[in-house]
Amino acid sequence: MDCEAKLWLLVLFLFSSAMHCAIGEPQVPCIFIFGDSLSDNGNNNDLATDAKANYKPYGIDFPDGPTGRFTNGLTSVDIITDLLGFDHYIPPYANTKDSNIVEGVNYASGAAGIRNETGTHMGQDISMGLQLEHHKDIVSQISTKLGSDKVQQHLNKCLYYVNTGSNDYLNNYFLPQHYPTNGKYNTNQYAVALIQEHMTYLKALYELGARKFSLFGLSLIGCVPHGKNGSLCIEEQNTAALVFNNKLKAVVDRFNKELPDAKFIFINTAIITENSFKQDIKILTCCKVGSSGQCIPNEEPCLDRNLHPFFDEFHPSEMVNKVLANMAYDAPVPAFAYPMDISHLVKL
Ligand SMILES: *[C@@H]1O[C@H](CO)[C@@H](O)[C@H](O)[C@H]1NC(C)=O
Ligand SMILES: *[C@@H]1O[C@H](CO)[C@@H](O)[C@H](O)[C@H]1NC(C)=O
Repeated sequence: MDCEAKLWLLVLFLFSSAMHCAIGEPQVPCIFIFGDSLSDNGNNNDLATDAKANYKPYGIDFPDGPTGRFTNGLTSVDIITDLLGFDHYIPPYANTKDSNIVEGVNYASGAAGIRNETGTHMGQDISMGLQLEHHKDIVSQISTKLGSDKVQQHLNKCLYYVNTGSNDYLNNYFLPQHYPTNGKYNTNQYAVALIQEHMTYLKALYELGARKFSLFGLSLIGCVPHGKNGSLCIEEQNTAALVFNNKLKAVVDRFNKELPDAKFIFINTAIITENSFKQDIKILTCCKVGSSGQCIPNEEPCLDRNLHPFFDEFHPSEMVNKVLANMAYDAPVPAFAYPMDISHLVKL
């Protein structure tokens, strides 16, 4: 090889190493994830509950197969984790043994919500209050690893991804045969009570060092295919979700004023996913479902998974998760992410 060729190889090598460094460094050092089955990646696998997804055909498009994710492939937060430059997904709290918890933990639990009783007709779940207890445990472990002088500085830089509330409606308020909330509260009073409780959890997270919060609003929960009889959507449920969303957006304004060293953003899931949730084809969910609305184990799902907005009767397919994640990360219109999107939040 002549000298010039060697030099070129060296230049190419240096260039590709430099590229790799730039790509290899995530935009935040850590992500902590709170929520429900939209984000759960295995926390329910060993719980006594029917709300699990660690069997086929869930995960059919995920590299490791079924993991407990309630969809065919990636969840929205997996995709956002990719967009932020991580080369791995955030591990579930239930199994962190081969992971570096300093880079984040996923506490989300299928069927869970803000209220403790939410989803419990299906068995055990991990409500927001318990997820916060788990976070306290992780914070103390991180403190041991990094030293108590460094831990706050580290936790301040993380992204806190909070996507919860759907089950407080679908697996609580709108199941009056299992829960008394519907008789106790009207739609507005219920949203007030939920938001009140949510605020105490968010404040507690702040006290534990959280500063960058992305709060996801509810989707049009009245349009999930479960329990529908040909009618496209239940307007009463959609209205309830929008009432909750408006109050959550107001929390963002309030906390951004009251806690000036923190930044909260609101992701308008309902608007971003509206077209997906209102499509007729959603009636044909991709997998074959049982009476619970979840996939029947080991049945072959549809082949054209990118054409079905819902994988089972409650959970969007990866295609919809991609739309939501991309719009939350880099919102093309201000209405999608208020007052800014995740790509701007992480740069603060
Ligand atoms: C909900 O559960 C948490 C964690 O177990 C507990 O601290 C809290 O008091 C409970 N909240 C209510 C309203 O019962
Ligand atoms: C759904 O439609 C079927 C047939 O039209 C009817 O028998 C059944 O009662 C309906 N169920 C509900 C929940 O409306």
